[in-house]
Amino acid sequence: MAKTDFLTLNDLSQSALFKVLERAHALKKSYQAKEFHQTLSQHVLAMIFEKSSTRTRVSFEAGMTQLGGSAIFLSPTDTQLGRGEPLEDTARVLSEMVSAVMIRTDEHNKLERFARAATIPVINGLSDSCHPCQLLADIQTMQEVFGDVAGLRVAWIGDGNNVCHSYLEAAGIFGFELTIAAPTGYEPASEWVEKANGHVNFVDTPEEAAANAQVITTDVWASMGQEDEAKERLKAFDGYQITPALLDLAADNACFLHCLPAHEGEEIVEGLFSDSRTATVWAQAGNRLHAQKALLEYLING
Ligand code: CP
Ligand code: NVA
Repeated sequence: MAKTDFLTLNDLSQSALFKVLERAHALKKSYQAKEFHQTLSQHVLAMIFEKSSTRTRVSFEAGMTQLGGSAIFLSPTDTQLGRGEPLEDTARVLSEMVSAVMIRTDEHNKLERFARAATIPVINGLSDSCHPCQLLADIQTMQEVFGDVAGLRVAWIGDGNNVCHSYLEAAGIFGFELTIAAPTGYEPASEWVEKANGHVNFVDTPEEAAANAQVITTDVWASMGQEDEAKERLKAFDGYQITPALLDLAADNACFLHCLPAHEGEEIVEGLFSDSRTATVWAQAGNRLHAQKALLEYLING
């Protein structure tokens, strides 16, 4: 059987993504009832992290354990990858030993090279291009709040970065209407805008994006690897901070999402998380666990 990778959302068909999400909701219910099923018994996930992580690491590792398998954390500093062993050789070797590999890296091309050489599923745990696992959890969260996400008015306010790219791809697949307010020079890349299949429009100000939105979301102004640009980005994103006043412009039942980690005083105002409209971010983070467990079952068991 040919393996399936998950480097971008479009690696799975729309119906497969809906199936994974349906399973994610069921797995969440089981988890809340403290019922665990050993659907990945004896399976091992290798996790290569070339950047820091809290949510992605813990959700994949806890998820594998809860499904009866296990996960191995690998960092470049203590594997031969850090001493120059080619990605392709590492992919072939891990393919002999584990059931799937998750990679968090910078260049998306590294994931593609690894996936081409591997004979087991490869999962993107964040690249400079996109963050598909985050969107599984975000769609699960939107479904919990609103039911159907088709036609939902979603506002992205801030950097047109990797997470924004996955929002564009998700808009194309799930049919929500994405409105983006990003400062000039920080818009998402055009090849990702195309993936929205017309379900996107760009506005000039955060206020226009927030107006009547049902979901407001953002991300940090300087992503991992952009630390050198942090000062100039602070200036460029002036006026793009999420505040209670900005949330007031949204629809009555609107919720706020943030992939986290958040930087208070930058993309969100100090204390924003005490506003009840932002409570969804904790469920969103928790849904990383359930959505990825469903994904792992789908990729490993078929
Ligand atoms: N949202 C997310 O991927 O968080 P981590 O960087 O903590 O994994
Ligand atoms: N855009 C952020 C997302 C972190 C989960 C980054 O790449 O650092």
